[in-house]
Parts: sequence; structure tokens; C-alpha cells
Amino acid sequence: MDFQDAKEEIRDRLDIVEVIGQYVRLEPAGARFRGLCPFHQEKTPSFYVHPERGLWHCFGCGKGGDLFSFVMESEGLSFPEALRMLARRAGVRIETDPQAAARQKRRDLLERANEIARDHFIHTLFDHPQAEHARDYLRSRGFNRRALENFQVGFALESWDDLLNTLAAEGINPSIAEEAGLAKAGERGGYYDTFRNRITFPIGDTTGRTIAFGGRTLDPDNPAKYLNSPETPLFRKRRTLYALHLARDTISREKRALIVEGYTDVIALHQAGLQNVVAGLGTALTAQQLDLLGRYADEVVLIYDADAAGARAALNNLEVVEAADVSASLVVLPEGMDPDEFVRAHGPEAFTELLEQRISPVEYQLRMIFAEHEGQGPDGGALAAREAVDVLLRVRDWPRRDEFVRRAADIWGAGDPSRTESMARALKFELTRRMGDETARRRPSSRDSSYITRTLTTPPDGLLRAETELLMHALSDGAMAREVAQNLEPTHMVSEQDATILAALKEHLDGRDDLDVQALIDGLPQEGGVWSRGVELTVRQIRHTGNESEDVLRAQMETAIRRLREHRRSGGALAATLCEATPPVDDDDISVEDFSQLEHEVIEGLNTGELSSDDELVRQYFAICRRLRGAGDRGFVGDGEAPREGVPEADEPPTGAGGREDEAADTGRAEAPGGVRGAAPRQDPWAVDDGDPFSEDD
Ligand code: UTP
Ligand code: MN
Repeated sequence: MDFQDAKEEIRDRLDIVEVIGQYVRLEPAGARFRGLCPFHQEKTPSFYVHPERGLWHCFGCGKGGDLFSFVMESEGLSFPEALRMLARRAGVRIETDPQAAARQKRRDLLERANEIARDHFIHTLFDHPQAEHARDYLRSRGFNRRALENFQVGFALESWDDLLNTLAAEGINPSIAEEAGLAKAGERGGYYDTFRNRITFPIGDTTGRTIAFGGRTLDPDNPAKYLNSPETPLFRKRRTLYALHLARDTISREKRALIVEGYTDVIALHQAGLQNVVAGLGTALTAQQLDLLGRYADEVVLIYDADAAGARAALNNLEVVEAADVSASLVVLPEGMDPDEFVRAHGPEAFTELLEQRISPVEYQLRMIFAEHEGQGPDGGALAAREAVDVLLRVRDWPRRDEFVRRAADIWGAGDPSRTESMARALKFELTRRMGDETARRRPSSRDSSYITRTLTTPPDGLLRAETELLMHALSDGAMAREVAQNLEPTHMVSEQDATILAALKEHLDGRDDLDVQALIDGLPQEGGVWSRGVELTVRQIRHTGNESEDVLRAQMETAIRRLREHRRSGGALAATLCEATPPVDDDDISVEDFSQLEHEVIEGLNTGELSSDDELVRQYFAICRRLRGAGDRGFVGDGEAPREGVPEADEPPTGAGGREDEAADTGRAEAPGGVRGAAPRQDPWAVDDGDPFSEDD
């Protein structure tokens, strides 16, 4: 059975109220069920399940979907994972392909091998006589027992076959161990353990199953301080984040995730009570990792060590961070410290305060550039301006770019008005000069329209509500659906999602008599929140005032339709269409100031009705927008904040080399491999349990 068939079958067999009821206490409310939303904190229930339609929606946080998305969201699973989980529950068989079955069997074995290894390492750490130095080491680093247990930290003995023997005793042969990355094939045949004399940090998938290990050597002469499992069918580095399964709930609740560089940083921060922390896996941050976090967080803060490697990592990650869908900002720790050391020295409150100084990736780059050209005399300024413009040109959104120009000048000026002023001038000059080439190269992006629509058309009071109610009626009744479909076009809609939904509704009604809401919703695109909006409109209860007659309802609908049509005439969502339709004009040398002026006039004119969409000025404005605007409305959290004191010094130029190699020593680090950094804390106010993590009575 393929995915689609399985989906239908599962939907038929399972009761959505029963499944969701395992996570949320639901009580009947009319045709629906109501409960406290599991995805945000609330005291009065705004989470609704509509059993007939197989959908759910929370009016508090706006999340919604079907059975599968609920399980995905609650369990942090991908769609295939959720499908598989629900299939098992519904007794639906998905794959019958023998090759796939064999692959699955192999994966099961790899999982088993990792699980055995993890438990064996834990056991060794806590109980083995030859692990005394490992216990001493962890003790000296101030980790408490609860943290060690929570993170399943273990120890691999200084031995070539300790793990191999353990695995063999459990029926796992060496070739499986090798495929799992736990053993290596020797040159003269045979196998040997990968992790030797290393503290082991199990790496889990989103559900917490161990899929790999990181291992820290305790041998000061070993050049590879950390060793990670290689990629395996279970472990895809680029899609995995260390400790995500442990941080997930806190991240969902706080809507913010912190990314640090090292395993020990994660553990130390969790131990200190900061539980929304994860780490990458020694490689540059990837788009997939950010997407993964985006499932739970609205905002991601990247925290870098104040050393050269940290600065290099920060710069390597900028591109992917800029392109991500979550808003991202960046914190560089004070000189010479990593998060683990910082939180031990200063405590969690100080760490949280540090987060307030987070800056956007753009500002970080500007600061790096300026730090480099600082003190090079008058030429330094000109050079810095030129390089800064490279960065500024990557900010596609005009108002944001404008802000950054001002910010950049302030940073360079450092309180000296004449320095600030001359940098502002240099930046604007350089920007205007370079923009010609830039705009000529850039093609219009589909993101443009939403930005402009938003700028021009903050809808009049209540219009969106009228639109919402109208569509709710339309989705609840065939006759009303027809009425709406006949009288409105997608361009009348205030919200872009509603425009797509209306278009889908029109198509749905074309050539059929009835309205099949479930099919309609199923066919909506997942992108841009269209599907969720559709779900929301369907699950929402229509407000009945009681004595509402058919006529009153009709009148209300007609009013809503009329208002939407009028709104369009005065600007409305038409902007979006216009933006696509207007041919480009010659604006190659429009300056920042001229553009702002034009923008002002056009918006003013459209609002007062003095200008209409047919006016040349408006057309010109749209055409320029279409060519210049890109990034849309995503700002960075740190953007609005006061400039940070102290520019981080880099001892590498901003064009540093690639990511770190797992097996190679990180020579960029000051510390000798295996050495214990810093002394044990004198006093440990934040430790949950101060005692020896390895003592019996703990
Ligand atoms: P760090 O060198 O900052 O180590 O590497 P750390 O996390 O502070 O560890 P301690 O405190 O010395 O024990 C940060 C991360 O970079 C990766 C690892 O993922 C590590 O957690 N790394 C580092 C490697 O993969 N290989 C290395 O040789 C070094
Ligand atoms: Mn460290």
C-alpha cells in the first residue's frame, strides 16, 4: 500500500478524538471537542477538534491540521515517521516491497547495536574499575549525576575490542558494528573498536533513539580531541542536532532555541537550567538543521566561542542563517570562554543577560569588517565601506537595508559624529553606484508582492474578520460557497492565503454539484500557511446570534462581499497583481532618498485616493519594488537593539576556511587536547545536586 492509500485507510480506521485525546483532555463542545492546547500555554481552552472533518485547530496559537500533522507536531516526527506510527496503531501495513523490508531489518540491527553500545558505555563509566580517570575528569568539570544520566554520558575503555566483545555477546556481528560506526576494519583483517579511552556522548534522533556518538579523548597526546560516528543509514549529520530530543519541549514552549558549538556546552547549560540548547555536530550549520529547529522555534540564537574557530564558524554559518525561515541572531561570548565555562563562572542569569546582546548576522559581518579596517587611517574607512556594501547588498529588503546603513555608520563612528557622517556618506555613495549592476542582475522574486501588499494595504478595521466569516460560511455550505465563488475573485481577498483558498474553491466547484470540504482542504498547498488557514476556517465555529434568519445571514454576506470588492478598488490586494503585471522601467540610478520619497508619495496617494493604480507614478513604483525588493518581511531579532560594546577581534580574515573535520585535531583551539580547561568551580550556586555524581548514595 502506498503512502496516499495508507493515509486514507488510517484516517478511516482511527478516531481523531481518541488519538488526540491521548495527549489532550478533550470535552465535547457542540459538534466539536475542546481542550487545552498542547502547543502553547493557556488557561482557557482554545484548542478544537472537529471529528467529522478529521481536523484540529487552536485559536490561541494558530496551529492546526489533521491527524498526521498533530502527531508530527506532538512527537516531533517527519511525515513518514508519523504515518508509520499511526499505521502501526491502525493495523495498516505500508510497505510490502522486499527490498525495503530488508533495509528496515538492517536499520533495526544498527539501532540495536547503538543501543547496546550506549548502555555498555554508561555501565562502564559508572562501574568499571578502569574508568576511574574518566569519573575524575567529569567530576572535575562539575557535571552532576542527573545531567550525566539525562544525557546518557558514558565511557569507552582503552581497549581494542571491549565493545566488539559486548556486541558479539548480544549477537551483533562485527560487520554490523562497523556499519554502525562503532568498529573499524583493520588493515590486516579483523575489526577494532572506534571509541577508545573516550567519554561518549550519545547522539539521538528527534525521538531520542541513539543513532551515533561523539567521543572526547582523555588522552592529552591524542590529536583528535573529539571523534564522531561516521554517517550511517541512521545518522545524517546535516539533519541532526545534538540534544534536540531533550531540548524540544522547552524550545516549543519558549519558541526560542539556542545553538552552541560543543556537547559539553549543551550539557552544562541544561544542568544550569537552560534547557532550550542544542549543538551542531562539528560541521557548519545546515539549512536542514535550521528547518528542523523551525518546527519548534520562531527564533534561533547562535552562540559562538570567542576564539578564532568560533569566529570562523560564525562566518561560515552566516549564509545559511540569512536564508533560513526562522529569525536568527548571534551572540559571541566574551574573550576566551565557551558557554560551559561562562555559565560555570557567571551562572545562568548572566548567560541569559548575554542573550540580550544578540545581534543580527548582518551586523556581525559589519562588525568583523570594521574591526579589520579599524586603525588603517583614512583609507581604512573607504575600504571598510566598500566591503560593508557587499554585505548590505545582500539585504534585499529596502527599509531593513536602510536601517543597516545607519547602523553601520554608527558602529564605525563609535560616538564621533563626523566619523559617523562620513561613513554614512561613503556607504550611500557606494550603494547607489553598485545598485545599478545589482538590480540589472536580479530577477523579480515572488516574495516581492507580499511585501508590497502588506505595505499598501493594512486592511480597514474588521475587514479580515468579515473575510474570515465569509469563507467560513462558504466552506460550510454548498450554496454559500457558490455565492462567494461567483462574486469574488482571489484578488479581492485581504489575506494571501484566503486568495489561494478562494481560487481553490472556485476550481473545486467547477463542474461539480456538491461541496466536499475535506477534499478541498486536502488539495490546498502546505506552503505559505494556506493549508493551515483552510483548516482554521473549517474548524472554526460559526457565530450564531440565535435569531439569525436566512435573510440576515444573506445580508451579512452581501455586505462582506461588497466591502471586499470596494477595498480592492482602493488599492487592496491588487497591488500583488499589479506587481506581477507591470513592465520594468528604467530606474537604474534611483537613489535611496529618491526611492523613499517615491514610496511615501505613492502610499500616501493610494491611501487618500488621490492616486489610483493606473497612475504612472504608481506603476513606476511597483516596477521598482519588484526589482529591488527580495527578502520580504523577515527582520532579525537583534536589529532594533542598541549596538553592542566591544567588537570581537578576529585573528582570521572574514573569508575563513571551511568547517572542521571530525577526525582531525582542531589546531585552531588554544587548549591542549584532552586537557582540563579551567579549575573546578569554587562554589557552584546553580548546581542542582552538588554531590559527587558517582557516589553510591546519590
Ligand atoms: P571545542 O574544541 O570547542 O570543544 O569543540 P568543547 O566542546 O569546548 O569541548 P571541551 O570543553 O574541551 O571538552 C566544539 C565542538 O566541535 C567539534 C565537537 O562537536 C565539539 O563538541 N569538534 C571539536 C570536533 O568534531 N573535533 C575536534 O577535534 C574538536
Ligand atoms: Mn569547552
